[in-house]
Amino acid sequence: MSNNDDRPNNALQQGLKTQVAATVGAVALASPVRATQDKQSVKVEVGEITVDLNINGEKYTLAIEPRVTLLDALRERLQLTGSKKGCDHGQCGACTVIIDGQRVYSCLSLAVMQEGKEITTIEGLTQGDDLHPMQLAFIENDGFQCGYCTPGQICAAAALIDEVKQGCASVVSEDFQNVSQLVNLSELEIRERMSGNLCRCSAYNGIVAAIQQVAGQVPPEPAALVMVQGQEGLA
Ligand code: FES
Ligand code: FES
Repeated sequence: MSNNDDRPNNALQQGLKTQVAATVGAVALASPVRATQDKQSVKVEVGEITVDLNINGEKYTLAIEPRVTLLDALRERLQLTGSKKGCDHGQCGACTVIIDGQRVYSCLSLAVMQEGKEITTIEGLTQGDDLHPMQLAFIENDGFQCGYCTPGQICAAAALIDEVKQGCASVVSEDFQNVSQLVNLSELEIRERMSGNLCRCSAYNGIVAAIQQVAGQVPPEPAALVMVQGQEGLA
């Protein structure tokens, strides 16, 4: 048995927080290209056009070919690598970002279509050193394993909360006119609303629990906490 098994719960949780900070996209990597006041200074190659993007409250001007997806613009041009490329075909949800409050697969969206819109990536959910409540809930409820799908899952889950608040129905809503309040949102409904985001590690129970927590419900005990408590009981 390793020494780590003797750590108190809060130390274990702190360690988890540190380990997964990058996983949940709390930190933007490298220095992104900032927008210039003078568009003329942006070097435009043959076949490229300029596009102004508003991402996480920052303005960027890019010279890109019109065929470049938003995902590639984020990852390859702006070094905002929190959004992941899983399938690049609109099938997995790893690339999910929030545009004007709605979740969007950035691999299926062209960057040039996003001028004038507010784009939020996983890096933009964090406020300074403070994680977004959904990021914290994913940590506290073991909502991930490898973490590759996690940025997209968290963006989708954060948008889900706002969609329910706005009364948006899902295909399993019992009453399309009066959508359930967050505290009454069923597990079935959460799973349906998150069905566009796949997790190869199958961390679905933890993901649902995290959303239940942010929705004001009482989620089941996190599996890791149960295991730690069980080990303490055996000691
Ligand atoms: S990478 Fe966009 S849906 Fe899979
Ligand atoms: S945590 Fe590994 S793919 Fe979801």
